[in-house]
Amino acid sequence: TTPPTRAPQPESQAPKTQLSQTPLSVRKKGVKDFEFGKTLGEGSYSTVVSARDRSTGREYAIKILDKKHIIKEKKVKYVNIEKNTLNKMNHPGIVRLYYTFQDHDSLYFVLDHAKNGELLAFIKKLGSFDLNCTQYYTAQILSSIEYMHSQGVIHRDLKPENILLDEKMHVKITDFGTAKIFESNADGEEDARANSFVGTAEYVSPELLKEKAACKSSDFWALGCIIYQLIAGRPPFKGTNEYMTFQKIVNLEYTFPEGFPPVAKDLVQKLLVLNPSERLGSGGNAGIEKLKVHPFFQEIKWDKIWEMPAPRLL
Ligand code: ADE
Repeated sequence: TTPPTRAPQPESQAPKTQLSQTPLSVRKKGVKDFEFGKTLGEGSYSTVVSARDRSTGREYAIKILDKKHIIKEKKVKYVNIEKNTLNKMNHPGIVRLYYTFQDHDSLYFVLDHAKNGELLAFIKKLGSFDLNCTQYYTAQILSSIEYMHSQGVIHRDLKPENILLDEKMHVKITDFGTAKIFESNADGEEDARANSFVGTAEYVSPELLKEKAACKSSDFWALGCIIYQLIAGRPPFKGTNEYMTFQKIVNLEYTFPEGFPPVAKDLVQKLLVLNPSERLGSGGNAGIEKLKVHPFFQEIKWDKIWEMPAPRLL
């Protein structure tokens, strides 16, 4: 008889018992269950490889992390953050974690394979996006941020490299290795602050640089940088080196290129605000609602954004 088939489950919900009679479909997955393909991306202590589940034929992206390197570089905490945050989340705009396992040398995170890769590659290829495409992708990114924040997770390193696109050209946010979880359900942005991590220079918020503190609002700063970049083709703050970039950020030193659509300009100006509590989107649910009704999103049907077909990129 064939064992009952089950949809893959996050590890947290999967049965913990591993009896010899456990059906194949619920037994803990391991390296042998996958056929590994080409490399999709490389990080400083991980590699993402495409893989096919031998029993179901399903395609995944497996993030392979080198244990020795993680320990040597003191990144154990970040690896745990990535696993714990991904395990908490179930949303169309966020890469899903299906299984985790390990062998002697490596940890394996089995993730959604976003077939169209990084948003950054599309910006580079096309130069920039038109207003309509920018509105569509921004809405999906914002919807994903809203969900993340509702689950008590701040991403802290949102950028076009961490925004992947699936086969339908829908957004899948990835790389939660530097995320922050808030156990408390307090929406007060002030106490929702912590520690000293610094993300990618061009998208880092001024509060992180000045007070070494990130909050939910820091993700909205990054969103402002991303909207600017989609339309202008380059991020708003870019110096000749990291220090110069940081100087520009803390001094809010940026300009809009000619022809930047006024409605997008208005939104970016309300997101790139130095004081995080004055930034559009801050202040919990009410803040996000205010952001979602900005005229930039006028054409967006928020309850339909994951069914809406992606506009053709030109
Ligand atoms: N590159 C890094 N992670 C990826 C993923 N999950 N899907 C596709 N490409 C990736």
